[in-house]
Amino acid sequence: MRTKIIAGNWKMNLTLTESTKLIHQLNFSSDNENIRVLVIPPFTNLEAIKRLLKNKNSKIEVAAQNLHHSVSGAYTGEISARMLKDIGVDTAIVGHSERRTLFAENDETISLKASSALSQNLEIIYCFGESLIQRKRGIHFEIIARQLDDLIHKFETQYWRYGKIILAYEPVWAIGTGQTASKEQAQEMHQFIRHLIGKEIGEDLATKTPILYGGSVKPENATELFQQPDVDGGLIGGASLNADSFNLIIQSIAENC
Ligand code: 13P
Repeated sequence: MRTKIIAGNWKMNLTLTESTKLIHQLNFSSDNENIRVLVIPPFTNLEAIKRLLKNKNSKIEVAAQNLHHSVSGAYTGEISARMLKDIGVDTAIVGHSERRTLFAENDETISLKASSALSQNLEIIYCFGESLIQRKRGIHFEIIARQLDDLIHKFETQYWRYGKIILAYEPVWAIGTGQTASKEQAQEMHQFIRHLIGKEIGEDLATKTPILYGGSVKPENATELFQQPDVDGGLIGGASLNADSFNLIIQSIAENC
């Protein structure tokens, strides 16, 4: 059985005080080894939240929202994979659509970041997704295949084999818009992605790799999305900032395991 994952991407939200309060309100105590829950705070809160979770004996993990592809150097304002590892962070998002659109990251930069993270032994949550125009033009499968191209063809299979790659399909038109992909649209795309990985790098790895859905996931639609055979959980934005809604989403994945 594939690992099921709920990850809360807080984006540029929550001060340390607010984050601390939220962490105290989250409930996740499942003994099911197949379920993982992560919170993804801004850089300033990472270490403190990591320590707080440890002190609480919580099974919730922390991840970073971004990283720079160099190990160190004159890159004012940036954080490297090595720095994240050093404070005990083992997972990072790479390629979020907000990084692509608001910070001009392209497939090349994203590929460099993924490569740097993986070579420093970080696990990555690799995000990709088509825009509304691309979906309307019917080229969404082609776009997704292109966004996954480097990861599939240029990265060593060992990273896939060691379970260091989590995929997150986040259609741009569904992020922060309240317009979720239907369960059929999500399943169709996730099945396409799994099939692509199976064809290009091996059925065993396709079967093992978690593929998360992200884009306006809420307690009201979480269950139907997580019931889809190829949807292995969610990358949650807005609904992860509120304890009630995030707890309900965590509960939905637990019920579908
Ligand atoms: P929303 O859940 O707010 O649509 O955000 C999704 C997202 O971008 C998670 O990374």
